[in-house]
Amino acid sequence: MTRVFSGIKPTGHLTLGNYLGAMRRWAAVDQHRADALFCVVDLHALTVDHDPARVRRLSRQAATLLLATGVDPKLCTVFVQSHVDEHTRLSYVLECVATDGEMRRMVQYKEKAAREQRRGGSVRLSLLTYPVLMAADILAYGTDEVPVGDDQAPHVELTRDLAVRFNQRYGHTFVVPRATHPAVAARVMNLQDPLSKMGKSDDVGPGIVYLLDEPDVVRKKVMRAVTDSGRDVVYDREERPGVANLLEILAACSGGDPETLGDAYESYGALKKDTAEAVVEVLKPLRERHKELCADPGHVEGVLRDGAERARAMARPVVDAAYRAIGLLPAS
Ligand code: TYM
Repeated sequence: MTRVFSGIKPTGHLTLGNYLGAMRRWAAVDQHRADALFCVVDLHALTVDHDPARVRRLSRQAATLLLATGVDPKLCTVFVQSHVDEHTRLSYVLECVATDGEMRRMVQYKEKAAREQRRGGSVRLSLLTYPVLMAADILAYGTDEVPVGDDQAPHVELTRDLAVRFNQRYGHTFVVPRATHPAVAARVMNLQDPLSKMGKSDDVGPGIVYLLDEPDVVRKKVMRAVTDSGRDVVYDREERPGVANLLEILAACSGGDPETLGDAYESYGALKKDTAEAVVEVLKPLRERHKELCADPGHVEGVLRDGAERARAMARPVVDAAYRAIGLLPAS
């Protein structure tokens, strides 16, 4: 059976981008057709300036929202990264096949390091090695497919390179995974700045639809979205990024394809109104389920406990094999 692994980092409140780019498919498709693991990757949240209590809170919230999207622990494994030591065990070994140069060339590293420096902070070493830990997350489970938004493609590409290099040097150990992306909304853009990704770690709220926003807040944000000069509604990501973003969101939420939908609208106002309602509809069941789950925190904790146990059992043989292959003496 195909093995699927994906993760979400608790660095902010989850957004419509997270949902349309990744999480929605986990619940709707992946868990039904594959042996899937979905992970709250909390160790990754420590790579930038962070508040410990907030990371803990966001980790709990991300796990709860995952379940609220319909991810079902009877069909797949849901867990928290720091509960399974195999991730950091494997990360070290992969650091021994990765190079300093390839880490420094990663675009996300360059952007985030620059942002930390602008804020007057220093760049944590873990920010540089982040992609290696992500590779470990994926390779520890013999993963075939990684369903992610397209911003994660370079990280999965690096994971493939590390797997191939390790296998060539030390003998076949890892499955070489591939990224999968949704047909539309693989990169949802910020409503106020359609040239930037809608990111949960960003500071500005008005361009970001959060999964737990009240319906009226969602409506307001979508109605105030920046559109482009020109008045006709056409799908053109280069020339009309604001309108293209709305058309993609609408297509992802209500079906159809962005180009055909564009032909059906005569004004930006009508497009925004329908997009806002489509988003509100998509988020409604998720918000309701989230409320129910919050009333039963013991349930979420139980899911994570079982999930970690199952994940450990899957990862341990793979990581042990990597340790043996690279030359470490077995403990017994
Ligand atoms: P993270 O937490 O930033 O995002 C989680 C998932 O949401 C997708 N995503 C988006 N998709 C479309 N449009 C957007 N605006 C948007 N914003 C986020 C991301 O592509 C991702 O699929 N490095 C990862 C977490 C990670 C991981 C892993 C993922 C760590 N280990 C192993 C997969 C496998 C990250 O920061 O995702």
